[in-house]
Amino acid sequence: MGLIPEDVIQQVIDRTNIVELIGSYIPLKKAGVNYKALCPFHNEKTPSFVVTPNKQIFHCFGCHEGGNVLGFVMKHERMDFAEAVRFLANKAGVVVPETDHGARVKDDLRQTVFKANEAAVEYYHRNLVAGKEPEVKVARDYLRTRSVSLECVNRFKIGYAYDAWDGLAKELKQKGFADDVVLKSGLVVPREKGQGFYDRFRGRVIFSIFDYRDRPLAFGARALKKDDKAKYINSPETLLYTKGQHLYGLNWAKDAIAREDAVIVVEGYMDLIRPVEAGIGNVVATLGTALTPDHARLIRRYTRNVIMLFDMDSAGQAATMRSLDILLEEDMNVRVAALSDDEDPDSFILKDGAQAFRDRIKEAKSLFDFKLSRLTAAHNAQEIEGVALICQEMLPTIDKIPSEVVRDGYIRELARRLGIPVEAVSKERHRLGSKLTAKAAGVEQAVKREPKELSADESLLLKLMLADPKWVAEAHGCLAPKDLRDPAVRLIVARIFELFSAGKEVGAAALVNAFDDGDTRSVLTRLAQEDVVFNDQPRMFADCFKRIKGSRQKEERRVLREEIVIAEKAGDWQAVRSLQQRFKELIGG
Ligand code: CTP
Ligand code: MN
Repeated sequence: MGLIPEDVIQQVIDRTNIVELIGSYIPLKKAGVNYKALCPFHNEKTPSFVVTPNKQIFHCFGCHEGGNVLGFVMKHERMDFAEAVRFLANKAGVVVPETDHGARVKDDLRQTVFKANEAAVEYYHRNLVAGKEPEVKVARDYLRTRSVSLECVNRFKIGYAYDAWDGLAKELKQKGFADDVVLKSGLVVPREKGQGFYDRFRGRVIFSIFDYRDRPLAFGARALKKDDKAKYINSPETLLYTKGQHLYGLNWAKDAIAREDAVIVVEGYMDLIRPVEAGIGNVVATLGTALTPDHARLIRRYTRNVIMLFDMDSAGQAATMRSLDILLEEDMNVRVAALSDDEDPDSFILKDGAQAFRDRIKEAKSLFDFKLSRLTAAHNAQEIEGVALICQEMLPTIDKIPSEVVRDGYIRELARRLGIPVEAVSKERHRLGSKLTAKAAGVEQAVKREPKELSADESLLLKLMLADPKWVAEAHGCLAPKDLRDPAVRLIVARIFELFSAGKEVGAAALVNAFDDGDTRSVLTRLAQEDVVFNDQPRMFADCFKRIKGSRQKEERRVLREEIVIAEKAGDWQAVRSLQQRFKELIGG
């Protein structure tokens, strides 16, 4: 893999303001010279995430995650290092030279597959609006019976796939797309016997799935007949499309979502198309799956307010329940809207109209009400066992709410609704405490580590070096990394010396790139964010240095003494003599 030149990486770090960057993802609060926030990487109720502007780093005292702007973007946007550099370079106006041949080839292939998908969207769409064949007429009739107008077909680029084996395959070949590109698009299926492939979608209405930038990613194909075994056939996962990472309709809805500061999440293609047609534009569809954390993050770019509107059948309701916790964990406000049984947004609007639909959205219940009403329907709230069960189910969800005030309010409300004293709910909460934190804060449990115990002298020395380059020069003259006991500190100091010798900058933000290992990075950002206000830095340095050297020598003496004993036992007098000689030198020197 080719590497991005280091000076380019440095430019990207220098030109990105860490407070602005992180502040665009999470609310930051000024705390002295630093900023504080609830950590975006683990669940917590009190802020232990610190951003240090003068060092351009962040550090979390809860999960010990730490890094610079690149590390933050990698973790938050789930990018690899090169992607994060390009992402921030793009924002900061830094040009990244194209050095990575592998990445470029992959990128070219993606672009070509996008082009093939675009050609397919056009082909399917043209079939539906311009085809003269009887089967096209059947498709148009089908859409007419579903009250899908020609305007709507054009707006959402709905199409039709002929009931033939190679309609699309021929079209793409004729347009000059190579076989492997066509295969990679997922639009064709390789033949089991012999060579070549055939169209995946045949005799179906086609819905095209675009990303938020209007690029076609994948397709869904609906059967025309009610009794067809598979109502929908979908694109497989491809290099452009991963299930659960995209939302149908986001390209059409994103402006409305930002404007309304809310999004309605539905299940199906038509459940999105119908309300958008009716003037309710802030809708996206998950396409029959429960909401994923990726979905939640995609939504959060535009709003934090989510209204779930899944089918009322048991699959839809189970998906709703699962989605709720995911949204809470991503710190979103969730409400749940309900239609009548057997209705979905498409059929509901057709039957009762857009205003009735708007009313249902307005009446959406809070997440709390929704879950509680489902639980009271399932358990007997008149009996104490039922009450206990409801409590046990409600408390983990309540505990996922980041705001303490809101959480407290819900605990009171839960007590009121169940007709039991608040203290009883609180007691239950504490009784469940360990289980709650284990379950509700799964992320926290998984990443919670104890911070490393460091030698006071070694960490003070490193802090001085990070605070003022003068101490790097000083230490470089009198210390070697091997004089240090802690492996993380040793690695960091070795890297600092390396940069120093090469005449490069030794800031924490630049250093942190060098460490893939989370423990070492964490030590670095923890020490770097602490401000060193020593009155007498030279004396501090001298003292640290003396004690570090002293303990280093003590350790060497201990080892030597051990070796001498071993050699004596073995009767290896020559070795004993040379070891004793070294011992003398050590004491003398
Ligand atoms: N779905 C799918 N494959 C299926 C069934 C459903 O991919 N066999 C996805 C589709 O994206 C569908 C969504 O799940 O839109 C919701 O499923 P469902 O409610 O069963 O279908 P509807 O969207 O109501 O489909 P239609 O209105 O066309 O009947
Ligand atoms: Mn439907």
